[in-house]
Amino acid sequence: MAILVTGGAGYIGSHTCVELLNAGYDVVVVDNLSNSSEESLARVRQITKREFPFYPIDLLELSKLEQVFEAHEIEAVVHFAGSKAVGESVAIPLKYYENNLISTINLCQVMQKHDVKRLVFSSSATVYAPTDAGAISEDFPLAASNPYGRSKWMIEEMLRDLFISDPAWSIALLRYFNPVGAHPSGLIGEHPNGKPNNLTPYITQVAVGKLDKLYVFGGDYPTHDGTGVRDYIHVMDLANGHLKAIERVKSTTGAEAYNLGTGRGYSVLEMIHAFRIESERDIPYTVVDRRPGDIAVCYADPSKARDKLGWLATRGLAEMCADAWRWQSQNPNGYEKSEQEKMQLI
Ligand code: NAD
Ligand code: WQD
Repeated sequence: MAILVTGGAGYIGSHTCVELLNAGYDVVVVDNLSNSSEESLARVRQITKREFPFYPIDLLELSKLEQVFEAHEIEAVVHFAGSKAVGESVAIPLKYYENNLISTINLCQVMQKHDVKRLVFSSSATVYAPTDAGAISEDFPLAASNPYGRSKWMIEEMLRDLFISDPAWSIALLRYFNPVGAHPSGLIGEHPNGKPNNLTPYITQVAVGKLDKLYVFGGDYPTHDGTGVRDYIHVMDLANGHLKAIERVKSTTGAEAYNLGTGRGYSVLEMIHAFRIESERDIPYTVVDRRPGDIAVCYADPSKARDKLGWLATRGLAEMCADAWRWQSQNPNGYEKSEQEKMQLI
């Protein structure tokens, strides 16, 4: 029996593969490599010293997905595959609705056909309506503000309907807060295409000299230093949350949402400060206008995941920054080889 990991070559998927393999699970990875590199999987093998099959297929191609379920005995699925850039989703919403919704529909249809009804889905804290009520718990009102977020919300609703239609399903909807950091080996990590949209990859690229300076979006929020506050969570803690969720869906039925966050928020300036210490590099920055759509504060109440999944984030800010920096400084071009390395291969 194996766990199918869709989007397993991506940032969170590759770290989760490490966690699953180290826990003794067999995994099968499916990824169309639209936002990742197969090299990440070679490095997962290097870290875990375990082998696993990889299928470079698109979840939009139902028949190819079918073949994977025919070739392997799948006991549960962790579904990361999807498009995730908020700005792009506003510009090309149909890509997001197609890739995120149709992929998930295809996956669930094939799962149903093969009587595989245990699913862990990558949702996001972006499904919550903006609030100034403090720590966000799973029963807070939902209201996504962009097509990406709406696609996650729609999928959550669709998966709940699936459970209502057939109570044999067991589905965990994991709402991630702000994933950061990398595996402590420095072998796998996050490498966005083009200019990063998110704070930590932007900071690491400034530190390594790829970008000149950071633009801090807004210095006049009602927070202790005027900059936005978020719940940054180490990607290895997040990966461990998937392991716990797999154990949960194996032992229960239902369709339940769980926050995966630390319960503690840090401001942009606190992130810069922590990163400066860990990297021993300067991070030049300028405070500019707020980014449209941003909110002042967002952090999780993670108590449901603690109580129901037995999961708790254990890694602090210094570890997040140190591990992000190790990955970035050892792999300034992500998984791509530098020109010098390419020349050495010729
Ligand atoms: P990622 O882009 O690194 O990983 C997603 C992977 O899915 C990529 O490897 C991509 O090639 C693959 N993929 C995309 N469409 C596919 C398709 N149709 N068929 C097969 N493979 C496909 O992103 P990530 O940061 O690892 O995020 C993983 C999941 O978690 C996504 O669903 C994302 O929306 C969600 N999420 C991410 C964050 C974050 O800040 N990183 C926060 C909340 C939720
Ligand atoms: C964090 C803080 C910015 C960049 C996004 C998505 C969300 C989820 C996680 C997928 C904010 C500030 C940022 C920069 C800055 N992804 N910032 N300069 O916006 O909380 O969440 O990623 O589900 O859906 O919306 O994360 O990293 O973009 O921003 O000052 O160059 O850093 O204003 O306060 P965000 P982020």
